[in-house]
Amino acid sequence: MWWVLALASIAAVAAPAGPAVAPVVAAGQSFSWTRFLAPFHMVVLHFPIGVVSMAALLEVWNWRKPSAELRRVVQFALTVAVLASMATMAFGFLRAEGGDYDPITLARHRGWGIAAGAVTAIAWGLHRLLLGEPRRGGIVAFRLLLFVALMCLVIAGHHGGSLTHGTTFLTENAPNAIKNLLAESPETTAVPGSPAASASREATEAKAVFAHRCIACHGPEKQKGKFRVDDREMLLHGGKSGIAAVVPGDPGKSNLIRLCTLPKDNDDAMPPEGKEPLDAQELMALVKWIQAGAPF
Ligand code: HEC
Repeated sequence: MWWVLALASIAAVAAPAGPAVAPVVAAGQSFSWTRFLAPFHMVVLHFPIGVVSMAALLEVWNWRKPSAELRRVVQFALTVAVLASMATMAFGFLRAEGGDYDPITLARHRGWGIAAGAVTAIAWGLHRLLLGEPRRGGIVAFRLLLFVALMCLVIAGHHGGSLTHGTTFLTENAPNAIKNLLAESPETTAVPGSPAASASREATEAKAVFAHRCIACHGPEKQKGKFRVDDREMLLHGGKSGIAAVVPGDPGKSNLIRLCTLPKDNDDAMPPEGKEPLDAQELMALVKWIQAGAPF
């Protein structure tokens, strides 16, 4: 049963890489297959990525040194890739159900993921035909499909990463030159006392409040109300209510300030019931940050 061992060790290695996925089962909550199986998306997704990459590498070899035996190996790898893609998609649908993910990023991740699976399946079918009757045109088409499948996987993976780690996950520590290139807000290296310097102080103070009081429910792990505070775009946009949470320059029109100043026992108050309301200093930090144009 070597494969059971192999799977178990892969699960052990891969599982801590993802965030705690399924909500912890509260006492009295009944067992659910969906909740149990959904996190396995994070385990099986490594197979299509690894195996399609391997098939592409073997194909490079095949191009340098064509061999009928290697064709059969590529076919076997593609069969594994197709089966793994189907498992990944099935677990992915389960996982999407429970998490309050950002709907746009989720739709992109789902779309590119399905495209990757579909293109891999078409490549598998075409390659099977080529096994019997290798034609040059067919081989070129197959290589193109394999490349497209790989690209779809990379893009799907990127959106998947944004879902669980936030959109600035890869670039947050990048040099400013790269951030500029990607049009992400570069860190302001302003002279102390200049307007830019105080804008960044407001950003630092607001971010501290978000990190202490909001991010547990509105961050990489959970997106309650489909809202998160670790990404400026989503922060301004607001969540499932469709109301802009932050109107830069106008705290009075910002839904976020309204929610944070509601009486403690109001159903919509933020942070919600059971949590300490923001104190005057924290609230002031958010108000000043919005007045400063909500720099991030
Ligand atoms: C214990 C979890 C929790 C914490 C902590 C929390 N929230 Fe929320 N938040 C929620 C939930 C749940 C909703 C969805 C409420 C609803 O839709 O009825 C929500 C919704 C919101 C919304 C509305 C999103 C929309 O447009 O629908 C905003 C804005 C918001 N929270 C801001 C904050 C801010 C700012 C903080 C920190 C000061 C914070 N929240 C802390 C749980 C939390």
